[in-house]
Amino acid sequence: MARHRLEYLEALGVVAYEPRLAARAGKEGGCPAATDPTLMDWDGLAATVQGCRCCELCAGRTQTVFGVGDRHARLMVIGEAPGAEEDRQGEPFVGRAGRLLNAMLRAAGLSREQVYIANILKCRPPQNRDPKPVEVAQCLPYLLRQVELVAPALVLCVGRIAAQSLLATDSTLGRMRGRLHQLQSGVPVLVTYHPAYLLRAPGEKRKAWEDLKRVMEVLGDGHSA
Ligand code: URA
Repeated sequence: MARHRLEYLEALGVVAYEPRLAARAGKEGGCPAATDPTLMDWDGLAATVQGCRCCELCAGRTQTVFGVGDRHARLMVIGEAPGAEEDRQGEPFVGRAGRLLNAMLRAAGLSREQVYIANILKCRPPQNRDPKPVEVAQCLPYLLRQVELVAPALVLCVGRIAAQSLLATDSTLGRMRGRLHQLQSGVPVLVTYHPAYLLRAPGEKRKAWEDLKRVMEVLGDGHSA
């Protein structure tokens, strides 16, 4: 689509989307505010994320980490950001924390392949530092579009930072656990401990199991179907 036509549509308040646009926006460094992921399909979104240069994290990444799993999953798991192993492999939760996450899912009667897994940030922060607010602001629209496309029955947010970012709150993990939250789109959200934290504090696994029982309850009888 010619640029002047896009400008004309923009002036009319019309959001124009076509897959080539998303790819071009990525190459040219367009950011969510400019490219509007809300109308993208999976291919357009993946291409945009792959080419994203919206924040400083792009400089240090090996690759972006988009998300993995069943794009029609009933459960979507959301973590914080890729670590070293995820940055290397291009897939979320593939390190030690990922192995524990897989075990947690199995305990809830679900395989990794049955859920969709993604992170708040698509690029690894240096030394695994906490995401900066500006990075969350730039990256969150991609995740929200993923949630919209998957349309899960439930989101399970793992860890304080992921939950605070997704739910736009500064509440503690203790306060966020055990309650059913809701995204603006109406999708219910439960919060539990990050598996990396559970590796450091195995005594908390009992509470994580309580959270997983709630996950199964919300998903209902056919939760692993
Ligand atoms: N921790 C996260 O929050 N996400 C990953 O993908 C890996 C570790």
